[in-house]
Amino acid sequence: MCGIVGILSKDEHEVVAHTLTCLKRLEYRGYDSVGVATVEGQLLKDVGGIGPFMQGLDPVSAKISIAHTRWATHGGVSTLNSHPHQDGSAEFTVVHNGIIQNTDELLASMPAQVTVSDTDTEVIALYFNQKVVNEKLTVREAIHSFFEDAVGTFAVLLMRKGDDALYALKRDSPLALAKSETLCSGSVILASDISAFGEHSSEAVFFDDNTYCVVSNKEAVFFDANGRDVDVHYQAFEWRAVDELVDYPHYMIKEIMEQPLTSLRLLESLRTLQADKLQAFADHMKRARRIVFLSCGTSYHASLIGAHLLSKLGYEAHTVIASEFENFILVDPSTFVIALSQSGETMDVIVPLKEIAKGDVRIGSIVNVPFSTIQRFSDISLDLLAGPEICVASTKAFTNQVLALVRIAECLGYECESSGIPGRIEETLRSIDPVCRKMAIELRDVNDLYVLGKGAAYPMAREIALKFKEIDYMHAEGMMAGELKHGTLALIEDGTPVICLIPDGDPSMISAAHEVSARGARTIVVSNTGEGDVNVPEGGRAEFGIYACLFGHLLSYYIGVERGLEIDKPRNLAKSVTVL
Ligand code: M6R
Repeated sequence: MCGIVGILSKDEHEVVAHTLTCLKRLEYRGYDSVGVATVEGQLLKDVGGIGPFMQGLDPVSAKISIAHTRWATHGGVSTLNSHPHQDGSAEFTVVHNGIIQNTDELLASMPAQVTVSDTDTEVIALYFNQKVVNEKLTVREAIHSFFEDAVGTFAVLLMRKGDDALYALKRDSPLALAKSETLCSGSVILASDISAFGEHSSEAVFFDDNTYCVVSNKEAVFFDANGRDVDVHYQAFEWRAVDELVDYPHYMIKEIMEQPLTSLRLLESLRTLQADKLQAFADHMKRARRIVFLSCGTSYHASLIGAHLLSKLGYEAHTVIASEFENFILVDPSTFVIALSQSGETMDVIVPLKEIAKGDVRIGSIVNVPFSTIQRFSDISLDLLAGPEICVASTKAFTNQVLALVRIAECLGYECESSGIPGRIEETLRSIDPVCRKMAIELRDVNDLYVLGKGAAYPMAREIALKFKEIDYMHAEGMMAGELKHGTLALIEDGTPVICLIPDGDPSMISAAHEVSARGARTIVVSNTGEGDVNVPEGGRAEFGIYACLFGHLLSYYIGVERGLEIDKPRNLAKSVTVL
């Protein structure tokens, strides 16, 4: 949540424009408002997206600039609350991702400083003014003191007016640094994640917690919170930011349609480059007494499938919604914990992982963004290789999560012809696309919808329902079909749409479909035996789930189009949920 970028370069004409271009690639992290500031003293900010903000901008020259795209945590969406923030005399300017929890305490310790915004970030600028201007500390001394005094999470970029240095501080919120020879004829870029770097770099330093960096004259020097030197390594990564939609109107549909390719890429890699890691995952599972999946949202739905497959194979497998982990007690050294995450930066997952790591517990992860915090935190990690997912709603990464879990299960004895799945994904997308377009017109004005599943299809019912909520702002419930008659059936009226996921003509699912249609429901049957309103290829139950979700994702997309909604950036949401 929130994206930050800072660039220090010699080519003063281009710095601000490039800072914003890099920031645009992080817009999926938050899109309430945007702002940019230069070390020379310019400060521009506004509510709304980066595109319109850039269009309205006159050319600005700068040696250093920092910028921010916001997902509001403290203080409403307003220009005043947008970042960058400054102290009263505009000596210090900051952008911040994270949350400062003890703002009141910090403010109380510096009565001379006055806030003007409702944010927790402004206090950072005030703090540096207090320490450096009033108490005569050097900026680095003030940084050491800030690490001691601040409670909370932060990735901060800080500039002092007229200075030739850019300071970057990190605790718990992600921060990376890259050097580029091509950007602005040579520059140092700091950003929340590697997507910002675009084509300008393919290696980066990923900050450790409680470290900071001073960048000046294109050199970056790293220190720990006490000012001791820290050795860093530039790590090579493969990740190309997607700037253009090219043939598609939205990233969501682009990402859905990419899946024949992205699923193939994953399977290929699990067969070759990641084969050892795949086997190691399976071996960890064999050795563990229990397997616990930790995840949120769509990734949680994928982990439900994983646990289902493992249970069927006789393993003790649990899924825990990461934000509820404190209520789960079955973790000990015989447990193998697996974090599932597209971004690898979800704070709800990171916090319990840190607790778990204090014990002697093996941590595995399956993530899409390379070198993300969760990946770096794991003993073993599989890459999903879905490529950058820009739409806030996860689609192609979800499919690859399920595929990765299917492949792990295959190593443990689950029978599946996974190698044919990319081809069948392509076939499914081709055949269901016109069906979804037509159905979206019919369902355009619906406000309540139910999705029923059982066994491996139950997580998919939940996943499909989540997409109707986040993309279409529609109330949707995904549930176990068997639970219907224990209460929810009371909500079914004439015309209520109920999507029934029925693999292999499952008789109990057929009964559920009859029960709702007897109460007037408009049933939509998804089948792999050719008897549905929507027909998907044959295959095992997990496979059925993948194809059923393609339908759900595509239908939610076309309904969103019919409703004229902001599909890639749903209201109130952000792609990377980096706060609790
Ligand atoms: O990056 P993660 O997979 O850890 O994110 C978890 C959820 O925030 C995410 O899946 C969210 O539910 C998506 N918006 C779903 O489309």
